[in-house]
Amino acid sequence: MNFQLTDQQLSIQNITRQLAQTELLPTVLKDDEEGKFPEKAYAKMGQMGLIGLPFPKEYGGQGADYLSYVLAVEEISKVNSSVGIAYSVCTSLFSGGLINSASEELKKKYLPDVLSGKKMGAFCLTEPEAGSDAAGCKTTALWDGEAYVLNGLKCFITNGPLADYFLVFALTDPEKKTKGLSAFVVEKAMPGVSVGTIENKCGIRSAQVSEIIFENVRVPKENMVGEEGRGFAVAMKDLDGGRIGVAAQGLGIAKGAYDIALQYLKDRQQFGKPLFKNQYLTFKMAELSVQIEQAQYMLYKAAMDKQEGRSYSISAAKAKMVCTDAAMQVSQEAVQMLGGNGYMKEYHVERMMRDAKITQIYEGTNEIQKLVISGSLFR
Ligand code: CAA
Repeated sequence: MNFQLTDQQLSIQNITRQLAQTELLPTVLKDDEEGKFPEKAYAKMGQMGLIGLPFPKEYGGQGADYLSYVLAVEEISKVNSSVGIAYSVCTSLFSGGLINSASEELKKKYLPDVLSGKKMGAFCLTEPEAGSDAAGCKTTALWDGEAYVLNGLKCFITNGPLADYFLVFALTDPEKKTKGLSAFVVEKAMPGVSVGTIENKCGIRSAQVSEIIFENVRVPKENMVGEEGRGFAVAMKDLDGGRIGVAAQGLGIAKGAYDIALQYLKDRQQFGKPLFKNQYLTFKMAELSVQIEQAQYMLYKAAMDKQEGRSYSISAAKAKMVCTDAAMQVSQEAVQMLGGNGYMKEYHVERMMRDAKITQIYEGTNEIQKLVISGSLFR
């Protein structure tokens, strides 16, 4: 087993780290405060090839490996995890769903602009009555002889207000429930698509999350992704990849908060000595460094499973769980170690703590990950 990153992986990690410092860090506090997405920085990520990292060149991707993409999400999320999730939803969920399951025509039509950052994608599965129970979707897409007519409301859609394209899951045969669910690419420009309520969130405040409403949207047959009635499997397979992306976001938050705490313990003097002279704090940092490294290895293992064509559903669920728990644990310990300063916005860790919470919830709560993992143990 080789624990060293390749030269290419190190180079992508460095380039992304620099971009995060120059393009994201200067405005991250303001973006969080104002709930504003840094669109120019995202476009630059696209121009630099980051959005398309793990995809074949024939669709406008970079042909890099999956671990390189994971490293990039991690570096972005260390600084601005709102951009981290926007990136992951666009790359893992929207583009990943097309790569896994769409026709050649759909891949060629939609991927190049999304992978170059000119357009944005989103993933529309969740509904008010279908959260953890993803099979409870009520949105319908009924064939009228010429097109599928889409009606329904999707909620908590990351990138919703910004996205040009949606990967939408809807019932083409409502009687059959899960077996009647199908997937479609829907364009925001199609008549009948609108953005509903834009959410006011605790964390990831500069990511844009909203309802998406479909009213008699006529979707052409060729926009179906995968076979009719196989939408649930399309969504589940796609979410396996998405969970690796969220794990990378979580690990990025954990590392970002850890780095700030480490520096603070060196710089801050109390009782006539730097904070790190208190063994309680250094032991705490030792524990957090172990937790981060454990999470990192589980994440990189899941990425390698995907990259090398092994089954990655379970390793992705495990990685999502440990990395997002690490994000929460490390960020809240960092706030505590920074004391009163940790509670102030300019020290960044309070934002990281707010951002960390959602990583334990979306793309399958960590309880759902336990369901996935335990299901494999007793099958
Ligand atoms: N890959 C491919 N197929 C899969 C699969 C996978 N990983 N997991 C399940 N399937 C298939 C099964 O094989 C089965 O197919 P057959 O009927 O043909 O045998 C079918 O899907 C149903 O499987 P289950 O019986 O296991 O499904 P379930 O109803 O018990 O639900 C669940 C399983 C794991 C709880 C699932 O509902 C789930 O993952 N829930 C969480 C939903 C979720 O993650 N939502 C995230 C929303 S997206 C989001 O947050 C994005 C964002 O904007 C940030």
